[in-house]
Parts: sequence; structure tokens; C-alpha cells
Amino acid sequence: MSGKPVCVGDFEQYAKRVLPKAVYDYYRSGADNQQTLADNVAAFSRLRLYPRMLRDVSVMDLSTAVLGQKISMPICVGATAMQCMAHVDGEAATARACRSLGTGMMLSSWATSTIEEVAQAAPDGLHWLQLYIYKDREVTRSLVQRAERAGYKGIFVTVDTPLLGKRFDDVRNKFQLPPHLRMKNFDTNDLAFSSEKGYGENSGLAVYVAQAIDPSIKWEDITWLRGLTSLPIVAKGILRADDAREAVKHGVNGILVSNHGARQLDGVPATIDVLPEIVEAVEGKAEVFLDGGVRKGTDVLKALALGAKAVFIGRPIIWGLVYQGEEGAKEVLQMLKEEFQLAMALSDFAGSYSTALHACFILSGLVYPRNFPLEHPTVANPESAPLLVAMVTMHVPARCCWCFNQSLVQACLKLKWWLEASSAPGDLWWSCKGGEPREYIPRVDTAQDMTTNKFARFADGFHGAKHIY
Ligand SMILES: Cc1cc2nc3c(=O)[nH]c(=O)nc-3n(C[C@H](O)[C@H](O)[C@H](O)COP(=O)(O)O)c2cc1C
Repeated sequence: MSGKPVCVGDFEQYAKRVLPKAVYDYYRSGADNQQTLADNVAAFSRLRLYPRMLRDVSVMDLSTAVLGQKISMPICVGATAMQCMAHVDGEAATARACRSLGTGMMLSSWATSTIEEVAQAAPDGLHWLQLYIYKDREVTRSLVQRAERAGYKGIFVTVDTPLLGKRFDDVRNKFQLPPHLRMKNFDTNDLAFSSEKGYGENSGLAVYVAQAIDPSIKWEDITWLRGLTSLPIVAKGILRADDAREAVKHGVNGILVSNHGARQLDGVPATIDVLPEIVEAVEGKAEVFLDGGVRKGTDVLKALALGAKAVFIGRPIIWGLVYQGEEGAKEVLQMLKEEFQLAMALSDFAGSYSTALHACFILSGLVYPRNFPLEHPTVANPESAPLLVAMVTMHVPARCCWCFNQSLVQACLKLKWWLEASSAPGDLWWSCKGGEPREYIPRVDTAQDMTTNKFARFADGFHGAKHIY
């Protein structure tokens, strides 16, 4: 990289040059052959956006809320352990950067700064604690209580780490913390992952997890945690619809669709690929977030379009910290914010971001035979949908999307959303009815149109429509 970074990749290139190899490897690595690591990013690239035009994007509001707390944009910082290896100010710098940008930070239990230090670094900032469930439940209980006392606004309990995934480079490097650092939330050398302890020939962190973290955790532990705190709880690391439903049953307030940055089980799907089925399964009963591979503003847009309320970024913040501590982390957040804003503007969703985005972009080539989530959190609020938007491109065989179309249409009608279909005229009709077109429905553009005659015609005439756009 020469000159200032212009994209997240530039920050990483810089970090790769300046960090000790074992540290860079620890931050960068995924599990095993890193198939999922590549796919987390590639899956975003496979999705296409279909921009609208000429709809006044001069006013933008990127703000949203996570677990009841307002944030300036739907981009938050996820838990990454041991940030003081990236910069001397570590987690405190991240906390200040998040506060400056008006967004939230999830602090890792394995931070090299304490829960309290991070709270003090950005006293009016928004913090959540990422939690591991230790064999010794008192350790976990005390972390939760400390977070409550320090004003944290939620607990993200990691459910995908009964054991640590095998990261080849960490094994080769026998990864452990440098001697001047420790996991500062813990008192004993054992729990603090101190280098004094010695971890043999393996990845030190893998040994640590096997010794300290409880591999027998199960859904009842979520119930236990629920009873422990009144803070909102998010299950971090869900990849399946049935697990999402289970989590909701056990009282979580949110689901973070995550494969741990591809660091646990290699070969699992990219998170963006499983997001829609999880949004659907949750039926609006919990907030759904996503992390994994978010590197650009358009990635954020795609995640939101497919139902995430906000996204979390992991490695990009590490690269920002390496670049320039707090300023570097701020630059990364600012860059993603601007890219997201640009993506919004260029796809013409600016005025209606919080509402319209949550409808759907259906993406070319994506076979999508699932039911549209009628009770989607944002969709379910009638006030959220005065003015349309389901944007449908039917590049998929009609048979595959029949059931999707049907439920999408029902959702739109129920909620008085405008259904916009583009390209391949006739597909929509064919897939819903399978006969000759009877009626052409003219385009309507305004909220008023939708609530009056034209919308009624739209609704009544839908099944006979050749194309609607
Ligand atoms: C270096 C590093 C450390 C991480 N540490 C934790 C952790 O302590 N707890 C946790 O639940 N997840 C941890 N994660 C996973 C992240 O919270 C997040 O799921 C992931 O980084 C998102 O993917 P991304 O890095 O592609 O943005 C870590 C990820 C990385 C890269």
C-alpha cells in the first residue's frame, strides 16, 4: 500500500507488513484449509444488487437500533480477542473509536483490557460483553455481573466454541500471548492465558480452551444464563434455522449469525448464505445480526437486504488498530460507513433505508424457494412500510420460486407493501398462476396510490397480472 488506505484490504496489507508473523497469522487465520474463510467473502460477491434510479437520495438516515440502543449506522464491532497485540491501546482504542462513530463494541471475554477499563475508556459508549461459558460457572457468573455493573448493554454468548477450531498456523507457531500481555479479565495465570504457563507444542489457545471452557454446554445453559441477568442476551454463532428457533425458545433477544470468522468448523456455509433462512425461522421474535466477511459497504447493504438488523466486523478493526490505534479503527469504521452510504444512494434506497431495505433484493441466480418471512421484525410493523419495496428479479426457474413468490406476494398484500418485479416479465405471473396474462397493472409510485384505488387494483388483479413493476 502506498499512501492512505482506500479500502479495508489496504489496512490488512499494512498489518501484514508490520505485525510479527505469529500475531498476523493468529488474527488472519481460519480453521483447517480455510474454505469457509474464503467463502465468507466470496458469498457476498456472488450476490447482485439491482439499483433503482431517480428517487432523491439527498437525505440519508443510516441510524438503527441494536437491542434497544440507538446507533448511528448498522455496522458494529464484534469481539476479537487480545487486541493489545495489534496496538498498545488495544480494546480501549476500539471503544473510543466506536464511541466517536456512534456505534457499539462487543468486548471479548479474552480481551487484554478489563471490562471496567473499556467502560472507562469510553464512558458514554455502547458496550456489550462477549461471553464464554467456563467449566467453572462462577467465572462466567462474575463476568456477567461485572459487565452489568460497568453499564454494558447486552451479553453475546458464544455458542460455537466447545473446543477451539484447528488453525494450522497457530499450531505451527505454537501461538501464545507475548509475555507482557494477559487476558486481563482473569486473575490466575491459568485463566489469563499467561505465557508463564507454557502450552507445549500445540496452539496455546487450543490448549487453553480445552482446559478452561466447558465442552458440555447445552441449551439449558442458556436458560441458566437467562436467569442470571436481565441484560439482553444474543446467541453468537448460530448457522441453522432449528438452532435459531431453539435459541428463541430459550429466551434470547437476538441471534448473531456467525461462523466465528470461519475459525471453528471449516466447511460450514458462508454466513450471508444462511441468513435468510434464519431470519425466516426467527419470525421476528428476536433481532438477527450477521458477521463474517463484511469488508465493504455493499456487503452491509446485502446483509440488511436479506434481513439482518445490523452487521458486526471482526478483522477489519484489528487491521485499523494496527494501522493507527484509535484513529485507525475510526478510519475503518468511517470508511465502511461512507461505503454503505454510497451503496444506499446508488441503489436509491436512501429515504427509506430502515423500512425498504428489509424487504428483499432477490439476487440473480439465487434459487430461493423459501417462504418470505411474514413476521419479519421490521416488516411486521405496519408503520414501517408506507411505501413499498420488494424488488424481485426472476432469473430463477419459475418452479423454484413459486412458493417464494406466493408468500412474498401474500406478505406484500398483507402489509400493503408495493411489490416491484423487474426483468423477465411474465415469470412472476407464471410462477404464481401458470396461465395466460389477463391484466397489466400499471406502476404506482406513491404511498397515496397504494392506499387508494390503484393498490386495490394491484391486489385484486395480481393473479392476472402479466408483469408488475
Ligand atoms: C482474531 C480474532 C479473534 C476473535 N476472538 C473472538 C472471541 O474472543 N470471542 C468470540 O466469540 N469470537 C471471536 N472472534 C470471532 C469474531 O467475533 C467474529 O465472529 C468474526 O471475526 C467475524 O468475521 P470477520 O473477521 O470476517 O469480520 C474472533 C475473530 C478473530 C478474527
